[in-house]
Amino acid sequence: MEYTIEITKSKNSRIGEVDFTNLQFGKNYSDHMFIAEYIDGKWQNCRIIPFGDLSLSPASSFMHYGQAIFEGMKAYKDEDGNALLFRTEQNHKRWNISAVRMGMPEIPYDLFSASLNELVAIDKEWIPTQDGCSLYLRPFMFAADEFVGIRPTENFIYCVITSPAGRYYSKPVKVLAADKYVRAFPGGTGYAKASGNYGASMLPLKEAISKGYDQVLWMDGFEFRYAEEIGSMNVFFIVDNVVLTPALNGTILDGVTRDSCIQLLRSYGLIVNETKVDLEEILKASKAAKLQDAFGTGTAASVAPISHIEYKGTVMELPAIETREISNRLKKDLEGIKSGRVTDKYGWISKVKSHISALV
Ligand code: COI
Repeated sequence: MEYTIEITKSKNSRIGEVDFTNLQFGKNYSDHMFIAEYIDGKWQNCRIIPFGDLSLSPASSFMHYGQAIFEGMKAYKDEDGNALLFRTEQNHKRWNISAVRMGMPEIPYDLFSASLNELVAIDKEWIPTQDGCSLYLRPFMFAADEFVGIRPTENFIYCVITSPAGRYYSKPVKVLAADKYVRAFPGGTGYAKASGNYGASMLPLKEAISKGYDQVLWMDGFEFRYAEEIGSMNVFFIVDNVVLTPALNGTILDGVTRDSCIQLLRSYGLIVNETKVDLEEILKASKAAKLQDAFGTGTAASVAPISHIEYKGTVMELPAIETREISNRLKKDLEGIKSGRVTDKYGWISKVKSHISALV
């Protein structure tokens, strides 16, 4: 299906106000944003407009009941100046899985893809090219009924904003295994990229930070023994050259970066076990100096080495980053493919194509 996207260009670009030599994650936003509305059972009023505040009724249902989902993606620029997107189909697939779980309308691929391609095309100059930097794309959708009652929502707003961004983590990450709070339970929303999953993680995160950690390592909700995921990314361990990562069991996110890393690690000839990852075993491996590596993977985080894991009062210290040949190679290859510097054997990359922005 074709969508008409109306474009209103910003009169004054803010690009000169941004210090591209010192980009942080999530602090700056490019000139335009995409919006579409779901009204009367169909997506309509698709438009790209200058980035700015939204005007919403305080009775908008997402503000009260948290019916909202989001995705994270990144655009890079290759050496020839083409803007590149990574695995848009995978993010779209997960988007619709999240939407269905949250009782929200799916977005057809054509609309999802057009929103990203047209927006990135119009703000292509905002794609940073420094090492570790990218244009972070944040599609999100929220319930927009003006109704303070509980009933299935009828109106929704879909938006995409983009942000020139540096690395999410500038140093190795310290994680604290949860022993009291639970992120997700079977039958819940753990596999969806539902905003509320993150909202509920803020108190545990505050507590972890107050103890000197960067993130919570979420554990299973029955025994607090099996690793699930980290607040901002999926998690991997390497013990005796075997890679272990929690299996997709309905309570963790099916990370696009997770899947890409599994494929790359297998291409290196490594065994990757998607399994229940028992922290008691990880602790034993750590004591026997067999825990070679632990790292997180995510769109924002890329491949982020973990330096310390606290589990039930014991702190495991991971080997020095320079010794972590596998995850260092993984990060280099993944970021290389995404930025067009390493050949994409997997068909993961697509060049941004605009059907309309050149006409405006
Ligand atoms: C991403 O990796 O894109 C995410 O959405 C994670 C978020 C915590 C920044």
